[in-house]
Amino acid sequence: MDTQGNPAARILILKGLDGDGWKFAVHGGSPKGRDLAAAGRAALTFYWPAQARQVRVRGRESAELSAADFLARSPAARAEALLGMQSRPLRNLADHGEATRAALERVAGEPGLVPPEWMLCALKPESVEFWQGDRSCRHTRVSHRCDGAEWEGELLWS
Ligand SMILES: Cc1cc2nc3c(=O)[nH]c(=O)nc-3n(C[C@H](O)[C@H](O)[C@H](O)COP(=O)(O)O)c2cc1C
Repeated sequence: MDTQGNPAARILILKGLDGDGWKFAVHGGSPKGRDLAAAGRAALTFYWPAQARQVRVRGRESAELSAADFLARSPAARAEALLGMQSRPLRNLADHGEATRAALERVAGEPGLVPPEWMLCALKPESVEFWQGDRSCRHTRVSHRCDGAEWEGELLWS
């Protein structure tokens, strides 16, 4: 959600899940980095087609600079992120190739290089919903909500 209230959705890699929350990484200067910083809240959706399962999560989001997350990425992923150009207009594909080659050289020459706005975000869940699909459409939904201290679960109509 941007500051005008426009919703936006993106596919991101879930980097981990622990007591601090559901983790994902973003460049703070990207549109999603800015939206997250402004909203402080986020929602996640996961789907496993083979099992017909969905998990939806909503909650508060916080972010901190993370060199460790960045340095664990492949050289190609680091080079792309170092450009810091995500979602800006690209004049042509040749410009991308040239910039990426130069960034790969920087990564090789300075392996400890980290962009100043690389953030690891943690979504602390306030609600988690599990959906199990059923061939005869009797899908099962279980919603769990946290009031701050206790989690409570209930079934929902599908
Ligand atoms: C399978 C898949 C995985 C992706 N993983 C990431 C990711 O981990 N980080 C990321 O910044 N973008 C990732 N993207 C691209 C985002 O969906 C999105 O297009 C991009 O981050 C730009 O979003 P923004 O303009 O809203 O900031 C992924 C896309 C796909 C299809």
